[in-house]
Amino acid sequence: LTDTYELNNGTQIPIVGFGTWQTPDGQVAYDSVLAALKAGYRHIDTAAAYGNEESVGKAIADSGVARKDLFVTTKLWNADHGYDQTKAALATSLEKLGLDYVDLYLIHWPNPAAMRDSWEQLNADTWRAMEELYAERKVRAIGVSNFRPKHLDALLKTAKVIPAVNQIFLNPSDLEPEIVAYNDAHDILSEAYSPLGTGKIFDVPALQTMAQKYDKSVAQVVLRWSLQHGFLPLPKSVHADRIAQNTEIFDFELSADDMTTIDGLRGVAGLANDPDTVNF
Ligand code: A2P
Repeated sequence: LTDTYELNNGTQIPIVGFGTWQTPDGQVAYDSVLAALKAGYRHIDTAAAYGNEESVGKAIADSGVARKDLFVTTKLWNADHGYDQTKAALATSLEKLGLDYVDLYLIHWPNPAAMRDSWEQLNADTWRAMEELYAERKVRAIGVSNFRPKHLDALLKTAKVIPAVNQIFLNPSDLEPEIVAYNDAHDILSEAYSPLGTGKIFDVPALQTMAQKYDKSVAQVVLRWSLQHGFLPLPKSVHADRIAQNTEIFDFELSADDMTTIDGLRGVAGLANDPDTVNF
């Protein structure tokens, strides 16, 4: 869990992160982040929109893990796009987290419903603010989330700093080859949120068979698949046993054939996360 990928700005990022989307604020978020840090995770992924930054920050503070040994990501919410708003939003997130910097700050969505006609300019202004926050070392790397190639193309027209990360919905049911290829071509790391398909891929027979073959759980097989693709999976759980189980993915390797089989499951759980149709 302390193995790292190197981002395009030289920053090291632990190759598995702990996801907190859909983790309720308060005791649940606090306990699960603390359990994750005890289990050895050193990379925590949150967002202003998850509403749990305070509990996440409290767990970090109480864990005793040194700040320099941790990698913390948060994200700019849809209502906060724009130059001034971005700076204010980061300040609020840092205050809630109880931190004086985050390791990675992401634009959460490229084109929320309220900015369907103005997203290009708004993202350019937002990015300029993020570049300044990066220069001031309030964030150690900057990136995006849910961006498709057209959104990245637009951003790169004015960007001085290439995004280090594009965090997308990426799991066996939603292999996004076009986005991943674009990320790879620009040296942008593909982070996988909902790497377990939000829990909806556990019943897929091909995955169950494979889990038996490797004497692993479906979750472990799928996380391994994500790693072998070079993605950075961000599994979420609120159960200490599962949180720990999801780290035990370094003692086996999927064969090339099995990787291909999983790649072929695209669409199997009917999931999809298209930024042009999300309605918030
Ligand atoms: P829970 O939080 O109740 O443990 P994703 O990371 O794709 O969003 O998936 C998260 C979902 O998968 C949650 O519903 C979580 O439930 C469940 N989950 C996470 N890890 C495991 C595991 N190892 N075994 C079974 N379910 C898991």
